[in-house]
Amino acid sequence: MTRRACVLAGIGAWLPPGVVTNADIEARLATSDEWIRRRTGIRQRHAVQDGMAASDLAVEACARALKSAELSQVDAVVLTTSTPDRPLPATAPAVAARLGLGPVPAFDVSAVCSGFLYGLAVASGLVAAGTADRVLLVGSEVYSSIVDPLDRSTAVLFGDGAAAAVLRAGSADEPGALGPVVLGSDGDFGDLIRIPAGGSRQRAPAAPGDDYFQMAGSEVFRHAVNRMSEASRQAVAAAGWRLADVDRLAAHQANARILGALGAELGLPPCRVLSNIDAVGNTGSASVPLLLAQAAADGGVAPGHRVLLTAFGGGLAWGATTLTWPALLPC
Ligand code: ACO
Repeated sequence: MTRRACVLAGIGAWLPPGVVTNADIEARLATSDEWIRRRTGIRQRHAVQDGMAASDLAVEACARALKSAELSQVDAVVLTTSTPDRPLPATAPAVAARLGLGPVPAFDVSAVCSGFLYGLAVASGLVAAGTADRVLLVGSEVYSSIVDPLDRSTAVLFGDGAAAAVLRAGSADEPGALGPVVLGSDGDFGDLIRIPAGGSRQRAPAAPGDDYFQMAGSEVFRHAVNRMSEASRQAVAAAGWRLADVDRLAAHQANARILGALGAELGLPPCRVLSNIDAVGNTGSASVPLLLAQAAADGGVAPGHRVLLTAFGGGLAWGATTLTWPALLPC
């Protein structure tokens, strides 16, 4: 009998309409469009208007994913974010309520930029355990609320956005079935990406910038390439694929140079490496599903493509998995 599996049934994304170009940042910080494009590949990013929170973006993305899956009800909602509406309670229950999903289980997963891969593992577990037959998984980020607008080393990188996937119970041999999800973490390097203040360790800022996102960029770069390539190899092997079988790589969009190095490390030609970082920047845990939703809409990924997903971020935490792209309704 074929193994019960978690199958991608719908996908949707939403970006706030406000756009911040490199020229906008150049006007207020000691940086340049040329530096940002050359060192990161980013041309612009989206940003919310004041007052808009992670749940607002998530509701929009989820509505589109549900439409793509032709569903109006699910059995669980999992939300990944580093920028929840509030420290407590979780943001997922508010999203479930606003979507009219009733008293379904709804909770947040915190794994920084790897959130979506961790969320896929959680969704797979809920389906495998028989707890849920349909899971709505959404990554929603408002990085503009935690990035220091005066820190040129991070202000140029991040964008706001949300993207969601509907996953349903199915069988391992059908298109859209997730392969084994490979996950990892290394807390010894937890200080490389952090917000020092605001938690139980350090409640209030002790120094300027303590309540903002901080990153040791060039050190993180090295870890990102190593961890995503290692996890990718493991996920491909666990799925019974070879790297040469991979038609599309959907990797966390942190830096175009990381994508280039990762593609080269895995022996994948640039045409197989999906990218939208030029238009959206780094959208944290929304990055991978946003990339997939946009690629599905513009033909960058098509039914039958064997897709490798991987992400890396603060924690440090990383993950990878595989799926054969299914026929989905456009969102
Ligand atoms: N404009 C102009 N100069 C800048 C800017 C800027 N926006 N930012 C930094 N610089 C300068 C630095 O001050 C430094 O100057 P110096 O040599 O005089 O000291 C120089 O550029 C080089 O700085 P680096 O930090 O070494 O620059 P690098 O080429 O590494 O690029 C970047 C920085 C883009 C952050 C890169 O390191 C990177 O992408 N890192 C990985 C990020 C990542 O993978 N994130 C994933 C996880 S994110 C998450 O989990 C939320």
